[in-house]
Amino acid sequence: MRPPGRADDFHGGREAANRESVSRSPLEPPLARHLERITGYLRDAGLRQIPPERTDLRRTLADHMQKRTPVLLEPWLRAVGPALGIPEADWARIREDQSAAIGRWARHIADPADVETYVMLSRHTRQGFISRFPASRFLAAQIRFTQLLAEDIKREFAHDHAQADQLRQLLVQEFQERVLHITDFFVQAREDELRRQEAAYREELLEQEASYRRAIDGAPACILMVDAAGTLFDINHVAERLLGYGREELRGRPFQDLHPPGERSRASTLWRAALERGHASRDDLHLLTRRGELVPVFANAGYIEHGPRRWVQLICVDISDRKRLEGQLVQSEKMAAIGQLAAGIAHELRNPLAIVMNALYDLHQLVDGRNAEVAEDLRIAEEEIGRAQAIIKNLLEFSRESGVDLERLDVNELLTRTLQLMGKYLQDNGVRVTSDFGPIPPCLANPNAMRQIVLNLITNAVQAMPAGGDLTLRTAAVSPNLIRIEVRDTGVGIPAEHLQDIFNPFYTTKAPGLGTGLGLSVVHSILRRYQGEIRVASAVGVGTTFTIDLPCQCHAEVLPDRPEG
Ligand SMILES: Nc1ncnc2c1ncn2[C@@H]1O[C@H](COP(=O)(O)OP(=O)(O)OP(=O)(O)O)[C@@H](O)[C@H]1O
Ligand SMILES: [Mg+2]
Repeated sequence: MRPPGRADDFHGGREAANRESVSRSPLEPPLARHLERITGYLRDAGLRQIPPERTDLRRTLADHMQKRTPVLLEPWLRAVGPALGIPEADWARIREDQSAAIGRWARHIADPADVETYVMLSRHTRQGFISRFPASRFLAAQIRFTQLLAEDIKREFAHDHAQADQLRQLLVQEFQERVLHITDFFVQAREDELRRQEAAYREELLEQEASYRRAIDGAPACILMVDAAGTLFDINHVAERLLGYGREELRGRPFQDLHPPGERSRASTLWRAALERGHASRDDLHLLTRRGELVPVFANAGYIEHGPRRWVQLICVDISDRKRLEGQLVQSEKMAAIGQLAAGIAHELRNPLAIVMNALYDLHQLVDGRNAEVAEDLRIAEEEIGRAQAIIKNLLEFSRESGVDLERLDVNELLTRTLQLMGKYLQDNGVRVTSDFGPIPPCLANPNAMRQIVLNLITNAVQAMPAGGDLTLRTAAVSPNLIRIEVRDTGVGIPAEHLQDIFNPFYTTKAPGLGTGLGLSVVHSILRRYQGEIRVASAVGVGTTFTIDLPCQCHAEVLPDRPEG
């Protein structure tokens, strides 16, 4: 808004430029209705004492106005300029605009059918400079000009009192008409402006609502809105996806339904705490999805009040990853403790076993085939000692005692060689092998350790397919720094309730003498050293897939004199 003192004009600016276009274009219907209405008031209320047909008198007044306006503008400006705070620098423009406006008015007085003056006034009360001020400011200036005109008529027609009176009567009548128009124009303009502002405000509100909705929907957490009666009334996109329910399906349902029965009272406690204290949170809840899955969540409940409405916003963050990591950590700690114990036992057993083995060898020499029965017993004893030594080797591997020399090795080649070595074993057990080795970067690892992993997984697979089956080995690069190895069999599978046990040391389902239950724990502990990961997916009667993710350069810094390139 411009300061009141700076007046470009009284009629909205660019008077002369507007004139042509206005007189030629047809009237807009609202303006036509407005003119008709005011004309009706004037006619019916007896305000038109001098009718439109009095063209002689009208023309005389119009001519006089046209002729005298330039002279009258000077005293007029000296009066209204300071009163309305218009700086002198703007007077020249005001003079020009007022002169054009009086010209239009005079044309209307001469010919009431010429309504250009009202077209312009209606436009300027809406968009022009005058629209930014109170109506009284504009009217005061116009009243003053009309007064000057009336006084001037009295002077100029001093010789003909009757004519002077008639002219002044017409002037007053026309001015009254003008005031009626201007008043309505101003009021209409303000109403239009209010409507425009209202529409803009409504639009802004809608936009705000939409942007709030976007923010809620885009939040990286499940958001549930629960009213003060514990009923769900809205959820965001993430929640729809995670839960498998649409927003509309959940509306009106108790929010506790989204938790497993055993947790519902805990969930209610959280919600009630938020209602009472403003906010509360807990991390021992699960969300129950449509498919019956349980998703562990960290639930943060906040109380919101808006006007008469009160509700609780529940923000639930999926913490499956955290829970899994915690689980892995517990598993690792368990393994480390057992590892220490195992290392101690292995150490203690290694020497006596070596002595027994030597003694058996000596005895073998002494008997020297003379007693077949004794020789057979000795062979069996030697074999069993061999097995015991193998177990000890496994135990030492498990407890990180074995070599840690790292080499840049090609895992695909290692797999191919291992398969070749095991060829006969696989064939004898009716196992068909499919290998699908993708391009993978070399890995820094200990070849013996890696071979252990592969041997253990393949052996388990073969043992899981007593009647033969398919063994599939796959490798692929997941990212420049991570390779994936997959070992899949079509064996007996592992029941879901045992999946969490298979990496535990000494967990075995095999008959005594057939398994020690150390294979997978060794695999797990080696991978932990390489910061790798192993996952298992299995279906009973269908088969099992072990998937290993192995970082390929994570141990670069421990390899002395690493060749570049
Ligand atoms: N591919 C598989 N299919 C079905 N079950 C498996 C498979 N791999 C492992 N298992 C189950 O996991 C258990 C533990 O395996 P793990 O290799 O640690 O020990 P093991 O094979 O029993 O004995 P070890 O490897 O010491 O000879 C197995 O006894 C078996 O029940
Ligand atoms: Mg095994």
